[in-house]
Amino acid sequence: MKTFKSIPGTFDVLPDGSSSGGDTIAPSRVWRYLESVVHETMGRYGAGEIRTPIIEPTDLIARGIGALTDIVTKEMFAFERGSTHYVMRPEVTAPVMRAYLQHNLAQKGGTQRLYYIGPCFRAERPQKGRYRQFHQFGLEVIGSEDARADAETITSLRDVLSGVGLKQYTLRINSLGDADSRPAYKKALVEYLTPLADELSDISRKRLETNPLRILDTKSDKEQALLKDAPLLSDFIDSESRDHHDQVKAFLTDVGMDFVEDPFLVRGLDYYSRTAFEFESPLLGAQSSIAGGGRYDLLSKEVGSKQVVPAVGFAAGMERILLACAAEGISGPEAARIDVFVVALGDAAVNWTFGAAAQLRAQKLDVSFDLKGRSMKAQMREANRQEARFVAIVGDDELAAGEVQLKDMETGEQSTVRLEDIPHRVNA
Ligand code: HAM
Repeated sequence: MKTFKSIPGTFDVLPDGSSSGGDTIAPSRVWRYLESVVHETMGRYGAGEIRTPIIEPTDLIARGIGALTDIVTKEMFAFERGSTHYVMRPEVTAPVMRAYLQHNLAQKGGTQRLYYIGPCFRAERPQKGRYRQFHQFGLEVIGSEDARADAETITSLRDVLSGVGLKQYTLRINSLGDADSRPAYKKALVEYLTPLADELSDISRKRLETNPLRILDTKSDKEQALLKDAPLLSDFIDSESRDHHDQVKAFLTDVGMDFVEDPFLVRGLDYYSRTAFEFESPLLGAQSSIAGGGRYDLLSKEVGSKQVVPAVGFAAGMERILLACAAEGISGPEAARIDVFVVALGDAAVNWTFGAAAQLRAQKLDVSFDLKGRSMKAQMREANRQEARFVAIVGDDELAAGEVQLKDMETGEQSTVRLEDIPHRVNA
């Protein structure tokens, strides 16, 4: 018989955790913990939650993040039905901008702070910290050019990370200038690199023609050495962008947010202008980027807006944050324990457990019992496995007397109590 496994680069989140391609996947309660910190933190920033569809028009993504990006050229899970082209969203910024325009959220006035949590899909080669279905949370601040908006997206992420207790990360930041800065810089970079093309890797040589700025992202020592004397984007950016960048840095400094300026930081999506940043963990090896973001004032026009809608945001990779948490020894809150495990001996008692559990659950207790008619020993073992705080033991005699033997699993104390008195005892 054929057996089925989850697709490589995807994984199951189980109550006690699981593993996928050598990676440990955190238990579902740890995911929920991270999510609860995200909801709480975003609430503190006055952000509202947005949930957009998993599938979006292919064009939105291609136009939004750039037809020549790796994501669009190589990594999209795209399909057609009839004449409609769909893509499983590789990110959420372009969808959020689509929703902002579609629902005319500008009409509400002011700035929209929208945050999200959900899965994204990229057909990358799976490896530690890199998946084909992964999860992002993010914040998009739409409708403001103010440098405080840029600084705020960064501090909101910092607050999530410190909310879960993560300590080791660095923030790298750069300014990409306005729409005109990049073509001039691109030209200078191509002029600098073209005579060195023979020394570049195949992929960088290809990028020299398609997307030269991406070469700056190289991890190869040899290429990094070649780039040592390359022209710097910071020398090409306009003075307004430079002022904006100085303001962002000043706001970050004001609130004690450390950062490293990285003139080579360009990001892998084309919609950015001005601020670009990345959060990295030193604990994750090659896939060290736990979050990235920046300003994307030009995206709105790419996806059909008549006006420029200034915006800035970030998205963080939840798997990577959870891996970094595990590497720092952060395991999240303890697993919730069952309050009462009902152990039944004999057919009559076994049937009684169902109604008894219902009665206790109605009193807001967490209750479990064996569903396989096993021996008392096996039932006790199960109660231990589920770390029950109390075990309620019922046989024919107890049933006749309308009582149970209630055992406190921590102290080992056992007493005879009526079913209706259990909540009082458990909550004492
Ligand atoms: P991104 O840098 O492509 O930016 O992705 C953000 C984060 O998602 C990365 O830093 C990483 O932690 C995680 N990530 C990306 N790909 C994978 C993968 N294959 N497996 C696991 N984790 C992954 C964006 O997506 C932009 N939308 C960020 C943004 C929001 N810019 C402005 N607003």
